[in-house]
Amino acid sequence: MLGSLLLAGSRLPLVRRTVSGVPLTRKVVDRFVAGETAKDAVGAVRRLTGTGLSVTIDHLGEETKDAGAAAQTARAYVTLLDALRELDLGDRAEVSVKLSAVGQALGADGDKIALENARQIGEAARSAGATMTLDMEDHTTVDSTLGILGALREDFPSTGVAIQACLFRSEADCHDLSHDASRVRLVKGAYAEPSSVAHQNKNEVDKAYVRCLRILMAGKGYPMVGTHDDRLISITETLADRFGRSVGDYEYQMLYGIRTDKQQALTGAGHTVRVYIPYGDDWYGYFMRRLAERPANIAFFLRALGGK
Ligand code: FDA
Repeated sequence: MLGSLLLAGSRLPLVRRTVSGVPLTRKVVDRFVAGETAKDAVGAVRRLTGTGLSVTIDHLGEETKDAGAAAQTARAYVTLLDALRELDLGDRAEVSVKLSAVGQALGADGDKIALENARQIGEAARSAGATMTLDMEDHTTVDSTLGILGALREDFPSTGVAIQACLFRSEADCHDLSHDASRVRLVKGAYAEPSSVAHQNKNEVDKAYVRCLRILMAGKGYPMVGTHDDRLISITETLADRFGRSVGDYEYQMLYGIRTDKQQALTGAGHTVRVYIPYGDDWYGYFMRRLAERPANIAFFLRALGGK
């Protein structure tokens, strides 16, 4: 309930100005965001890959309403990928892209602009030996995102996509995406969605996650299990046994700064664990979704504001 209120309020300009304007906010943001510059991101990549983790890097930003800013975001990814090429990490490094940051929200031409910008990122990823995964934003963007995914996969077949278990449509989308070499990141879903399109209750979302996970693990693609939830991780292991998948046939993904103990434990057990590293100065939307996921984070934030 508190989480939904926070997500709804986070879209109000006054809330954005208030939260962003408090100097101490930055200290709390640092728990979830690797820094503001590509150099900060590369530093985090070095640190995490040095401990055996894989990474996916997100240049923060979303719902861009300016074509110049969308092109600039694409260039930021290209610069980052050039720096990653020098680290020679191969598929241990990839980038995560929000299509609304590269043009999807620009009206009638949005899809075309987003596709062109994403293609540039795809080219840079390919020459760095890396891959690209499309994040999934609110439910109004799903058809567009899957359409752009299809077009991108013609040139960049390894392009992955996030699917949100909370949406009623996602089981069908998982079926459609369960073909050979199809990389699908399954997540619970971080956006406030109406009851006409999404499960509202946490238990229902968890059950839907298991149904989607079963489809992906039984299918022919490459499931990327994006969760910090112990119960879902142990169900993943059961499904891997049932469908004859070994550790290299799927991977776990978690967010920067969340359950780092579990990230290391799974890596130690031989799993691929990919950490989603966000960086950049447009951290507001990402940060508010992390606060909304967990009441304890809100308390942590309020204590920091109070100087404790
Ligand atoms: P749940 O929220 O039930 O958390 C399980 C446990 O994890 C908690 O008990 C706690 O220990 C820990 N935890 C979870 N969130 C925490 C937080 N914010 N702070 C501290 N601890 C926390 N969503 C989306 O809509 N589109 C997308 O493209 C993506 N992309 C994405 C990539 C990756 C790699 C991950 C891991 C997640 C996403 N998400 C996402 C976010 C996702 O939808 C979801 O909101 C979060 O992963 C939290 O859900 P959990 O599955 O972790 O379960």
